Amino acid sequence: MPETETNKRDSELFSPPSDVRGMTKLDRTAFKKTVTIPVLKVRKEIVNKLMRSLKRAALQRPGIKRVIEDPEDEESRLIMLDPYKMFTHDSFEKAELNILKQLNVSPQITKYSLELTYENFKSEEILRAVLPEGQDVISGFSRVGHIAHLNLRDHQLPFKHLIGQVMIDKNPGITSAVNKINNIDNTYRNFQMEVLSGEENMMTKVRENNYTYEFDFSKVYWNPRLSTEHSRITELLKPGDVLFDVFAGVGPFAVPAAKKNCTVFANDLNPESHKWLLHNCKLNKVDRKVKVFNLDGKDFLQGPVREELMQQLGLSKERKHSVHIVMNLPAKAIEFLSAFKSLLDGQPCSSDLLPIVHCYSFSKDVNPAKDVQQQAGAVLGISLEACSSVHLVRNVAPNKEMLCITFQIPASTLYKNQTINLEHGEDPPLKRQKTDNAFSEGKAQIASNT
Ligand SMILES: C[S@@+](CC[C@H](N)C(=O)[O-])C[C@H]1O[C@@H](n2cnc3c(N)ncnc32)[C@H](O)[C@@H]1O
Repeated sequence: MPETETNKRDSELFSPPSDVRGMTKLDRTAFKKTVTIPVLKVRKEIVNKLMRSLKRAALQRPGIKRVIEDPEDEESRLIMLDPYKMFTHDSFEKAELNILKQLNVSPQITKYSLELTYENFKSEEILRAVLPEGQDVISGFSRVGHIAHLNLRDHQLPFKHLIGQVMIDKNPGITSAVNKINNIDNTYRNFQMEVLSGEENMMTKVRENNYTYEFDFSKVYWNPRLSTEHSRITELLKPGDVLFDVFAGVGPFAVPAAKKNCTVFANDLNPESHKWLLHNCKLNKVDRKVKVFNLDGKDFLQGPVREELMQQLGLSKERKHSVHIVMNLPAKAIEFLSAFKSLLDGQPCSSDLLPIVHCYSFSKDVNPAKDVQQQAGAVLGISLEACSSVHLVRNVAPNKEMLCITFQIPASTLYKNQTINLEHGEDPPLKRQKTDNAFSEGKAQIASNT
């Protein structure tokens, strides 16, 4: 039977009583309902053997035992059957009938009154029964450790505490439900949130790509939807490479990179992020590989990054390691690219060693990749269309994409007094990026991992 049909018939029989509609304070006792279920009476000693052959016919619903004691006969058990498949003894398939015969069981089906309670309904069934008919029920949430992070719509707000409690009740390990109450537009990109139900404590612990992070979710930025992006960048790094993470948050690029034996310089302006970044480096035993800073991104680039680049790029020409700069502050990172202009003095390093920037941005343009290339190019005063790659990270809202542009900073941009060389055609040719997407005739194409 197609899944939609199964869902529909389930929702008829297994939907909560109609008088829960409009409930704003959760009353679990109001969800009691009695339904009539077909059952098969069998001797108790053959139940286990029989159940293996009756998987198709048995009732499958979380929280409901498929085998119960027979109230009239303690030597027997009742096997609950699916009311939509099993009507009479004719509903058994031939193989099932054969087993029943072998075990000397009569295929006679009887009726049983089953009481459903709050525990037997799924969260979606509960919310569909409570919220106004025909309106969207909450489809999901982001999980951050013990916290369910919801983004409720206006029509759901009158039910927010009930929704929070249902999420806690129905999702093992979730003990707190919060709702985002603004868009992330503050400097530190953390959410303003309201605790809807459960623990007020926002100190949490998450696992991402096998690393552990601890932080106070109300004070720092964390987005579980970025785990693929964190590992995509980490995979581009090789042991010995240098990573500068300009907007490091609590460490989801810095920690894995350090574990890969890269030298990491990680920075965040938010004192809370800085604190948890230090903590997470220790927690994951990479504190000796990561230098942590609490600076504005521009000061970080013009201070510690500049200093280290002057050293690294001036080293022997034999050096094989790459230098990567990650800039994950999509609403603003492109503006910070201007810090690379004339950042370094002296003779340019060989073009192979020029730092590789991974800069994030949002775009609402019809051609988001080209848009990001043009925006980044405009800040740097160069054209990036033939020498950058753009990766689609995720769709953040209808018609709004998050992207990552990757390119090597040209020597003519990075070093002071390089314009003369450019005029004489001496700027090393920029490398085309060989990442996951191709560019043809300057036309951007994007590749997605979502
Ligand atoms: C979108 S979050 C990314 C965090 C982390 N890299 C990740 O992938 O989860 C951006 C981070 O930049 C920090 N930030 C915002 N403005 C900044 C600035 N001017 N300089 C340095 N860090 C800044 C915020 O505190 C936040 O932790």
